[in-house]
Amino acid sequence: MDLNLYLKEKKAVIDDFLSSYISAKKRLKECPADLCDAMGYALMAGGKRVRPILAIASYEASGGRAKAIVPVAASLELIHTYSLIHDDLPAMDNDDFRRNKPTTHKVFGEGAAILAGDALLTDAFHVISGARARPEILIRVIRELSYGSGPEGMVGGQAVDLKLEGTKARKKELLYIHTRKTGALIRASIRIGAIMAKSSPSNLRALTEYGEKIGLAFQIADDILDITGTIEETGKTTGADRARGKNTYPSTFGLKKSREMAEELVYDALASIKRFHKKAEPLAEIARYIISRKN
Ligand code: IPE
Ligand code: IPE
Ligand code: MG
Ligand code: MG
Ligand code: MG
Repeated sequence: MDLNLYLKEKKAVIDDFLSSYISAKKRLKECPADLCDAMGYALMAGGKRVRPILAIASYEASGGRAKAIVPVAASLELIHTYSLIHDDLPAMDNDDFRRNKPTTHKVFGEGAAILAGDALLTDAFHVISGARARPEILIRVIRELSYGSGPEGMVGGQAVDLKLEGTKARKKELLYIHTRKTGALIRASIRIGAIMAKSSPSNLRALTEYGEKIGLAFQIADDILDITGTIEETGKTTGADRARGKNTYPSTFGLKKSREMAEELVYDALASIKRFHKKAEPLAEIARYIISRKN
């Protein structure tokens, strides 16, 4: 299969949904114009849309074919974008560039950026509530998304990331940070796709294992790119982790070992989804892409 074409097609579906979401908001004028502008700026700045694409790929591997997956997949990007806006704030990573553009707080100010993040987070659940699926399925989706992005998930990982900044984390703590701050939402994306397709419990378990492996690999690759990438490629200031004393895989294990660990995770992820055969080809290709990407 042609992975680039696959990513391009799915990204276009998500981009279309998100741009209609923002333009409807602006048209209805219920949301203050400045708030809508900050939300739209962050949302349409050109992300890869990896989480929604993973949800769709998992949905399709599980036999799903309906359009209801699109708003649900897009809700993952609302949460992800909120997490990036807040992650870049001066009180957190204090980054000036994201997706090759000045960060949201640089353009709109800190207060507006915090609120744009809050708005995207809350609206994610509103968007899910409007998806055309059975209410009990949507409740399960909400449960996965809130768990993956909340205190036991992304926010929990971010809290420990921040707390241990400038100190030398133990390996167990590093694993905790990475599996939560990034792994948890990726795991949720995969599980949500499977749940929307009414996957069997054993297929859901297999996909969850895949999601956990690639979720961790994704953050290891991000840490590696912070060292080996350029600002043009990644769209964000490189070398920032070292400057802030962040606990990363390369800072703990070195670059070579980190690369090997990421490769091994992908190998294990591929083994987890063997049972899906050809249906999981996109998931397999995405796993490889996660550690070979340049941005
Ligand atoms: C960046 O995520 C933050 C991490 C969790 C590592 P992405 O690499 O998915 O960023 P975008 O959405 O494509 O900009
Ligand atoms: C961020 O990890 C994970 C989030 C939950 C946003 P990083 O702080 O490494 O992400 P980047 O490098 O700023 O995108
Ligand atoms: Mg961070
Ligand atoms: Mg950051
Ligand atoms: Mg990073």
